[in-house]
Amino acid sequence: MRTQVGIIGAGPAGLLLSHLLHLRGISSVVLEKRSRDYVERRVRAGVLEQGTVETLVEAGVGERMRREGLPHHGIELRYGGAGHRIPFEKLVPGRSITVYGQQEVVKDLIAARLAAGGDVRFDVEDVAVHSLESEPYVTFGGERLDCDVIAGCDGFHGVSRPAIPEGVLTVFEREYPFAWLGILADVEPSSEELIYTRTDRGFALHSMRSPTVSRFYLQVPADTRVEEWPDDRIWDELRARLESVPGFTLTTGEITEKGVTPMRSFVVEPMQYGRLYLAGDAAHIVPPTGAKGLNLAVADVRVLTEALAAYFEGGSTELLDGYSEACLKRVWRAQHFSWWMTMLLHTFEDDDAYGRKLQLSYLDYVTSSEAAATTLAENYVGLPYAT
Ligand code: FAD
Ligand code: DHB
Repeated sequence: MRTQVGIIGAGPAGLLLSHLLHLRGISSVVLEKRSRDYVERRVRAGVLEQGTVETLVEAGVGERMRREGLPHHGIELRYGGAGHRIPFEKLVPGRSITVYGQQEVVKDLIAARLAAGGDVRFDVEDVAVHSLESEPYVTFGGERLDCDVIAGCDGFHGVSRPAIPEGVLTVFEREYPFAWLGILADVEPSSEELIYTRTDRGFALHSMRSPTVSRFYLQVPADTRVEEWPDDRIWDELRARLESVPGFTLTTGEITEKGVTPMRSFVVEPMQYGRLYLAGDAAHIVPPTGAKGLNLAVADVRVLTEALAAYFEGGSTELLDGYSEACLKRVWRAQHFSWWMTMLLHTFEDDDAYGRKLQLSYLDYVTSSEAAATTLAENYVGLPYAT
């Protein structure tokens, strides 16, 4: 079997890449180790930057997102007994975010690929990438896929990145001493906008998916197991952290999903080797506080699509050679923003009184200075793409 681009992984990165390549007349095969049902149900991110929304709309996969997604024009930072709105419409006029679940984006992309006759294979076993320097190929389930280029879109735990010979990649990473416990609940949101809360008990986030479904996150110790958090304990803790301003009452409901996400910052440089190009979580991870993971995956895939189009249409390898460099600028901006949001809003066990004072002073600055709030807002809605 032969295709132009062999894509490992049917997450947002792999599926969008396959679709964008299709629109440029470039063939691909997507190989995914999980079932279609599994990837369509995997609950993860929910905040789409303006550029992500525009990319999906331009690619013809934004119809349901436009209909069901929730446009947001601000977020609240809550701490010290008060809420402070960061108004996007004032600070970054014309720019906003859309709240729409990652698994809905994945569903829309799979539907579009299949409707266009795309080759997306689920439940594929033993995927391995070979001959990365030239004439690369992929083996899986006893079959062989020859391709011109391989796109490693298989997330942080995939097989693509580890296939790069030792010594090629430089790894930059940081682990955080806490995780996020995330839940979905059948209950109307208690707030119209997202609330990022810092309390002495830890961080909490109130998000949502629809007028009848809410999403919440709690900062928990890194080694937390979901079983330690029965529903009542979750609601008690969310109340304790979110009901910290006068007049705010949290509405509770049935919890339908629970999961623990470790917090990590991670980047490899370069994001390519020979004929293998890494995109999304395969190359970099951010802590979720800035809601950047999915959006970065989309940004990588945009760059890779242009580079592959230049290669297949005109034979030029210039953009492909510069792929990693072109992506890493945005990757590092998002790394800094996510680290900064994380440090601003979480509690740290080893933090002393001085550290807490600094954190609160910075929060006061961000919520009172227009310049500082604009820094947060323009990063949160997403900086414009370089091209
Ligand atoms: P992924 O979505 O991870 O997709 C990779 C795909 O490759 C998967 O479908 C996987 O099954 C497949 N795969 C892996 N190995 C193989 C293999 N050997 N062969 C074939 N296929 C393979 N970001 C936020 O902004 N907010 C959040 O709240 C948030 N929550 C998260 C919770 C969890 C548990 C995780 C893991 C991530 C979360 N993220 C969050 C990050 C965000 O979801 C990711 O940045 C985004 O999914 C990246 O997309 P991707 O396509 O690069 O990778
Ligand atoms: C969501 C996730 C995030 O990481 C975030 O910063 C905001 C919202 C969410 O899942 O809705």
